[in-house]
Amino acid sequence: TGGKLLKVTKEELAKHNSEKDAWIAVRGNVYNITRYLDFHPGGVPELMRGAGIDGTELFNKVHPWVNFESLLAKCLVGRLVGGNDFLT
Ligand code: HEM
Repeated sequence: TGGKLLKVTKEELAKHNSEKDAWIAVRGNVYNITRYLDFHPGGVPELMRGAGIDGTELFNKVHPWVNFESLLAKCLVGRLVGGNDFLT
C-alpha cells in the first residue's frame, strides 16, 4: 500500500495471468486481484477469465453496476496505457 501507481502496458499485464499472480484491467485501472480471487462472489474461475487482460467487456457484460473501484481500492496497481498494438 502507499506505493506509487504504475503505467501498465498490455504486455506487462499479460504476465500476471495465474492464480498466484493475477492482474486485471477494468475501465483503465489495473488491479492486483490475487488476494481478491477467493472473495469474488462469482467464483475464482469466472474472475480468472479476466486475469492478464483488459476485463472491461467481461465485467460490463456481467455486472456493470458493481463498484469495483471501492472494492479493489487497496489492490490498485496503476493505469493501463497504450492500446496501440502496432507499437509493440
Ligand atoms: C458476481 C465483483 C470481475 C463474473 C460478482 C459480484 C461482485 C463481483 C461484487 C456480486 C454481484 C451481485 O451479486 O450483484 C467483481 C469485481 C470484479 C469482477 C470487483 C473486478 C475485477 C468479474 C469478471 C467476471 C466476473 C472479469 C468474468 C466474467 C462474475 C459472475 C458473477 C459475479 C459470473 C455472478 C453473477 C451472479 O450469479 O449473479 N462479481 N467481479 N466478475 N461476477 Fe464479478
